[in-house]
Amino acid sequence: MRVLKSLAELRKWRQQQSEVALVPTMGNLHDGHLHLVKTALERCDNVVVSIFVNPMQFGANEDLDSYPRTLEADCQALDALGVSAVFTPQVSDVYPRGLDKQTRIEVPGISDILCGASRPGHFTGVATIVCKLFNMVQPQLAVFGEKDYQQLQVIRLMTQDLSLPVEVLGAPTQRETSGLAMSSRNGYLSPEQKQQAAALYRTLQKTKVELSVSTNFSELEKAAEEDLSQAGFVPDYFSIRNAKDLQEATAEDPEWVVLAAAFMGKTRLIDNLRVSNTSAR
Ligand code: PAF
Repeated sequence: MRVLKSLAELRKWRQQQSEVALVPTMGNLHDGHLHLVKTALERCDNVVVSIFVNPMQFGANEDLDSYPRTLEADCQALDALGVSAVFTPQVSDVYPRGLDKQTRIEVPGISDILCGASRPGHFTGVATIVCKLFNMVQPQLAVFGEKDYQQLQVIRLMTQDLSLPVEVLGAPTQRETSGLAMSSRNGYLSPEQKQQAAALYRTLQKTKVELSVSTNFSELEKAAEEDLSQAGFVPDYFSIRNAKDLQEATAEDPEWVVLAAAFMGKTRLIDNLRVSNTSAR
């Protein structure tokens, strides 16, 4: 497995390859990431994993400095899976003119709602780095986790809007046996908080069942937020949306997605569940 530490090294390597699949990550890899890599390997023998903690997608009060960096262990795990290359550029290589002067990609309509409302500028940071990674790596396929559902939809729209020749594939959320979605941020939770946090998925599942008999979305959302508070969370949002564009749900939508973000202590967790509307024609 090649470890490519600069854009120049990546470009030189890329010239010798034909098809490539990309799995963009910020490192600190867990089984959820490894599942994305396996999904990519099922489609393409030549997989590149990028490991880059992207400063542009972190807010001023967020965990950029303390974000766990575990490059050696990450590379060992990726090598064992049969990944061809790891791309780990420096911030100065990715943003040579500095963050302030960097050209940005903004995907309107979807970037400032839900997580985008709580984390202003976050999805501009995500769309910009993913667009840059697509241009740097020039993959035919890129795999992202469905756990970050809003991020996945932002990336799909960005790829479509900019006519980028990349197939964006979403891979199902990997869960602990408790149902808790795997996330790098779970590492911030104490064992007790980890147990409590499984209530997030249970609440999504409960709402899914309730959606088969009710489309009183605001009532369902309110009840779910109360359940989350009871379970020890401080809810940020709990929202039922159209699964495609994440606009407010209507009874006619063919598919909904129930999205939640909530704080367990200082740790902000997100999760989602898609629900098909069996009464829509
Ligand atoms: O999901 C992530 O880890 C990041 O948001 C991504 C897609 C690698 C962009 O930095």
